[in-house]
Amino acid sequence: MSDQNNAKHSGQFRIGGDIEVNRLGFGAMRITGKGIWGEPANPAAARATLKKLPDLGVNFIDTADSYGPYVSEDLIREVLHPYKGTLVATKGGLTRHGPDIWAPLGRPEYLRQCVLTSLRRLGVERIDLWQLHRIDAKVPRDEQFDVIKAMQSEGLIRHVGLSEVNVEEIKAAGKYFKVTTVQNLYNLGNRQSEEVLDYCDANNIGFIPWYPLAAGELAAEGSVLSKISSKLKASNGQVALAWLLKRSKVMLPIPGTGSVDHLVENVGGASIELNDEDFKALEHAAK
Ligand SMILES: NC(=O)c1ccc[n+]([C@@H]2O[C@H](COP(=O)([O-])OP(=O)(O)OC[C@H]3O[C@@H](n4cnc5c(N)ncnc54)[C@H](OP(=O)(O)O)[C@@H]3O)[C@@H](O)[C@H]2O)c1
Repeated sequence: MSDQNNAKHSGQFRIGGDIEVNRLGFGAMRITGKGIWGEPANPAAARATLKKLPDLGVNFIDTADSYGPYVSEDLIREVLHPYKGTLVATKGGLTRHGPDIWAPLGRPEYLRQCVLTSLRRLGVERIDLWQLHRIDAKVPRDEQFDVIKAMQSEGLIRHVGLSEVNVEEIKAAGKYFKVTTVQNLYNLGNRQSEEVLDYCDANNIGFIPWYPLAAGELAAEGSVLSKISSKLKASNGQVALAWLLKRSKVMLPIPGTGSVDHLVENVGGASIELNDEDFKALEHAAK
């Protein structure tokens, strides 16, 4: 395992208090086709990217049954099963009707089907971290939480996470099961989930920021981000990841790519130490 460029430099977090992962993970949404639909344009590159993960110390992978759909979970199983030392987290609760089309479906029977079919596709007896992709507003949320609680009691799921939720929803779900992770849109340029992040930090809930590489206007030429990146001889993406990792001890970024070169670059973000001054300058620029 390469020591120089390794996700272990991002620090560690114990998911649910008992599964230790390196904080910089991998998002497996981009190993599918355009619109997160069907096979990837370059299947060999997608497979090579997955194969490279253990070499780089990346032992936390985020996927979902809806990525492809099924393509991402199938590829992960093909390349990485039996996942020695790697946590594969998946999600369910969204249906797919075409490229870029996602529709929540939280009927308890469907959520159970999602878990049972993810178990089969991933080739495991229990899913270590299963996340409700969205709470379906058309179905009473207690029915959704209740079936998840049941599946956890039955041993189909080890830990439960939520996605795109607010603090009130985390507390409501917490009456049914321990919420171990929350996956919300969050990056240097989009901080709408700041309150949720603070809640997760205070309660030791893993916070998985999706779209972590985006920095919006902050990445423009001559911007504070670009200046700091040049000074550190790093890419804007690497600095955006380093900023996230410094922002909170519960932060678990999952940059996604279907390219080995991009993966290697992203893992490099784990070794970048931002000093307090640069961290604050980025914080200030983002506001
Ligand atoms: N819970 C949710 O609702 C939700 C929603 C969206 C995503 N997610 C999860 O979050 C993960 C990350 O989100 P994301 O994929 O939207 O955003 P991201 O990881 O911030 O960005 C991915 C995009 O950046 C490109 N990229 C990656 N590394 C690069 C590099 N070093 N240089 C240049 N371009 C690079 C990728 O293209 P290339 O393939 O060409 O590198 C891809 O287009 C997903 O994989 C998924 O697991 C969750």
